[in-house]
Amino acid sequence: MDKKQVAIVGAGISGLLACKYCLSKGFKPIVFDFEPDIGGVWSKAMKTTRLQAAKAFYHFLDFQWPDSVTNHFPTQQQMMDYLHSYAKHFGLMPHIKLNTRVKGISYEGGLASDTWSLWNGIGKTFPPVGKWNVIAEDIQTTTTQVYMVDFVILCLGRFKDVPNIPEFPKGKGPEVFQGHVIHSMKYSSMDHDKAAELVKGKKVVVVGFGKTGLDIARECSSVNGLEPPTTIVYRRDHWKVCDWAPLGIPFSYFYCNRFSELLVHKPGEGFLLSLLATLLSPLRWGVSKLIETYVKKKHPLAKFNMIPQHSFSKDARSCLLAYMPDSDNFFDELEKGSIKLKKSQSYSFCNKGILLDEENAQIEADVVIFATGYKGEEKLKHIFESSTFGEFIAGSPRIPLYRFFKFQLLKNIIIKIGTSPPNIYYLIINVIRECVHPQFHTYHN
Ligand SMILES: Cc1cc2nc3c(=O)[nH]c(=O)nc-3n(C[C@H](O)[C@H](O)[C@H](O)COP(=O)(O)OP(=O)(O)OC[C@H]3O[C@@H](n4cnc5c(N)ncnc54)[C@H](O)[C@@H]3O)c2cc1C
Ligand SMILES: NC(=O)c1ccc[n+]([C@@H]2O[C@H](COP(=O)([O-])OP(=O)(O)OC[C@H]3O[C@@H](n4cnc5c(N)ncnc54)[C@H](OP(=O)(O)O)[C@@H]3O)[C@@H](O)[C@H]2O)c1
Repeated sequence: MDKKQVAIVGAGISGLLACKYCLSKGFKPIVFDFEPDIGGVWSKAMKTTRLQAAKAFYHFLDFQWPDSVTNHFPTQQQMMDYLHSYAKHFGLMPHIKLNTRVKGISYEGGLASDTWSLWNGIGKTFPPVGKWNVIAEDIQTTTTQVYMVDFVILCLGRFKDVPNIPEFPKGKGPEVFQGHVIHSMKYSSMDHDKAAELVKGKKVVVVGFGKTGLDIARECSSVNGLEPPTTIVYRRDHWKVCDWAPLGIPFSYFYCNRFSELLVHKPGEGFLLSLLATLLSPLRWGVSKLIETYVKKKHPLAKFNMIPQHSFSKDARSCLLAYMPDSDNFFDELEKGSIKLKKSQSYSFCNKGILLDEENAQIEADVVIFATGYKGEEKLKHIFESSTFGEFIAGSPRIPLYRFFKFQLLKNIIIKIGTSPPNIYYLIINVIRECVHPQFHTYHN
């Protein structure tokens, strides 16, 4: 029997994992990535970026971190080395086409159009008819080739490629600013020394206080210290933590296991699961409060007006926690004044910097760095030739974006877009097992 062809778009962690599983199940995968290297976000992260989760909670199940990595929070370089070793160990590299951008995907043949309405997310697969055409461009030669495959797995990632750049009314945006404006995506992919050169001696304002905003502010303050200080302008607080094991119990025990899943309502849940989540809500609340009390006691969040309005659980379940392995230093920087925090619901640009609308105050700046995240879903929307598919996936309320994950089946398409909380095992391998594996068996047998 002919081996089924699988096109995998993206050679980040998800794409590598999908490739490895496809090979182990006897499929013929081909992975495309437009970057010159594997690793996805890790290939573009700042040199100073470290894993947020302890390495014990962020590794491939069947490929442990090498003994040479002794620190608990590996660096970007160690992460890249690890991913390269994984790809080498499982013989993935010959199946990966780098510098190759998938420009479009179309479906050919087989099913009446009304069959599409059968699709309802993770459910039964459709009959194995029809093929997918994957249009891929070699970005070095600009030649295009069409690959006809049986399955497509989209591992496009959520935190790369399409920056979220805030919009402003005319006359109040970056166009009126005399200084330099850059998104964190560009800043992160710069050479370390060049990035330091860009901010050296400059008044830097970082917009956004997610993990990227925090890291960039720290980089700028390590270059400039107090002269001049770096300012973070942001809208709302998210929980910042400095250890993954409050009271000696790892967060993953509270939030990343099968029991903890019972504590939350899920899209499409049945009556019993819904009842259970409701009955267990006091426990959910209690856990959250316990951790909040611990975090507030350990860090001077109150002193710096950094206590979020929402619960710890909300951030934990939305993957919006930011981890500060050497958090004391961050609070030291705040204490010294080399990093300043400015909370404001709305702000705009003026020629000298940023205006905080509520306070009617101005923050002078030479460089403004938007650490305002990404619009990962846009990639999904535009990868299909048919706008109907794009709408099906990225624009339809029929497909809830459950905690940033889309693991959906659309006639032999599996989509994975999202970050993962610290546990790759739980959130990637398990889902791939549960989604890819049985479905592939259906066709294989
Ligand atoms: C700086 C940073 C640090 C992070 N640290 C952590 C952490 O400590 N812990 C944690 O749990 N999570 C972390 N994350 C979240 C991270 O996104 C996931 O952990 C994981 O690495 C995502 O892998 P992925 O393969 O799903 O996506 P990505 O790594 O984004 O890979 C997607 C790949 O698809 C490629 N691609 C996209 N479109 C196309 C196309 N049309 N054609 C060809 N190729 C395409 C991209 O080039 C990219 O290489 C971090 C994210 C960032 C940005
Ligand atoms: N391992 C690491 O060390 C590391 C490093 C960097 C990133 N990461 C991960 O990568 C992912 C992305 O992180 P991120 O920090 O780049 O993005 P993010 O988590 O999406 O945070 C974006 C920030 O920008 C703000 N923002 C968005 N739109 C804005 C607007 N129009 N005006 C003002 N502020 C705006 C958000 O504010 P609101 O909250 O108010 O919307 C938030 O503070 C996360 O999962 C993160 O954990 C990890």
